Amino acid sequence: MDKSFACALVLAGGKGTRMHSDSPKVLKTLLGESMLYYVYKALKPALGENVFTIVGFESGQVEKAFPDMKDRFVLQEEQLGTGHALQMGWDRIKESGAEYCLVINGDTPLIQDQVVTDFLDAVKMDGADLSFMSITPDEPAAFGRVIRDKDGQVTAIVEAKDYDEAVHGPVSGEVNAGIYCLKISAVDSLLSKLTNNNKSGEYYITDLVDLAVECGMNVTAVNAGNSIDLMGINSPLELAKAESALRLRTAEKLLESGVTLHNWESVVVGPGVEIEPGAEITGPCEIYGSSKIGRGAVLQSHVRIVDSVVDSGAIIKAYSHLEEAKVGRDCMVGPYGRLRPGAVLEEESKVGNFVEVKKAVLGKGAKASHLTYLGDSEIGAGTNIGAGTITCNYDGVNKHKTVIGEGAFIGSNTALVAPVTIGKGALIGAGSTITKNVKDGDLGVARGKQVNISRASKKS
Ligand code: UD1
Ligand code: CA
Repeated sequence: MDKSFACALVLAGGKGTRMHSDSPKVLKTLLGESMLYYVYKALKPALGENVFTIVGFESGQVEKAFPDMKDRFVLQEEQLGTGHALQMGWDRIKESGAEYCLVINGDTPLIQDQVVTDFLDAVKMDGADLSFMSITPDEPAAFGRVIRDKDGQVTAIVEAKDYDEAVHGPVSGEVNAGIYCLKISAVDSLLSKLTNNNKSGEYYITDLVDLAVECGMNVTAVNAGNSIDLMGINSPLELAKAESALRLRTAEKLLESGVTLHNWESVVVGPGVEIEPGAEITGPCEIYGSSKIGRGAVLQSHVRIVDSVVDSGAIIKAYSHLEEAKVGRDCMVGPYGRLRPGAVLEEESKVGNFVEVKKAVLGKGAKASHLTYLGDSEIGAGTNIGAGTITCNYDGVNKHKTVIGEGAFIGSNTALVAPVTIGKGALIGAGSTITKNVKDGDLGVARGKQVNISRASKKS
């Protein structure tokens, strides 16, 4: 698509009253990503960077969520309706130098990039002054009703609240999807004619349709049938239904690509996740963000993975949680393993039940099988960390590092008070509190000596 043909304006200023939330509706998530994320993703192929966004309610939150869109947000201080939002963005739209502007409601997350491309292509072909997309859902619900004359020509969009069968005739079932393509030079003269003379007291973008028809402009509607993809999301129920549809669609795509899913309907995979064919996943489980799962990796049920990499052949057992972690080839994690940001497991290493790892590298084949905390640490290849080992990395003010050499053996219930270095092949006696470095191959023991005292009374 020729970038100077069209720019886009995303309407994301509203509060979303029906969502009953203190944050903007467009930041509500489906499969771990916000509605706005999906809208931007669908616009990207056709519009590139030429995308502006109207923000209003809690605008700071929206801007913070999308730092890459900086400088392309336009503030609508008071949310006086979708028509008013367009008016607020109009100068930026004109400055973009594009011929057309695609306007899209920010609460339309199921939209696919192909729909955007096809819509723009249709407008390019027929040269409409104003075109919008319509759908014909089972129920017209609260959507704006599309009115056509007897020749099938669109004459207006009337909002549900303002619709009067006596005036407008029986409801046709065709409704406005909230995606418009406006010829900037034509619509320029209509914007100031919008009024808020309606039941909501708002300026409606939809009023542009009958204004354009009255001026003899070329107005068209592209009907997408009964497509759930163009549904606006206004309530928790609509959000849940859309998320469900997206979840099943994603799982089906994975199955088709060669990923094995058990209990497939409860496998939740975000839109930015990559899973190689041959991986095997059991639901319920969640994989979000930019996670990557390799061929032959096994994820058992109740696993939650965010922004992490699991290499081929690794097994993540039930109830393990991974966040910004990297699990190498043929590693084992869990059950009940917890890998926090910066946890790196090199190939064939193992983290067992109730082991927490944060900002720590476990070398090849290293093992921490039970009940352990490893933070700010480097652990050499082949080292064995006994049950109950704790790296005491925090002194109340700063974090300190623990370094353990290759092939070391840390006895159970050891406290390693950082900063501390344990040499290669060193052995630490169980129950030690280690505060001093231990040299390569040495034994370090730091615990009270056992004293056995007979309790039998002594005869004099
Ligand atoms: C709108 C359409 C309706 C259509 C439906 C499709 C109008 C008047 N009605 O209704 O015909 O069937 O979408 O989903 O446009 N927004 C702002 N500033 C505002 C008000 C809203 O930026 O002052 C943004 C919202 O954040 C939202 C979008 O515009 O992303 C649509 O607003 P919303 O209130 O959801 O409109 P609907 O009532 O759903
Ligand atoms: Ca809406």
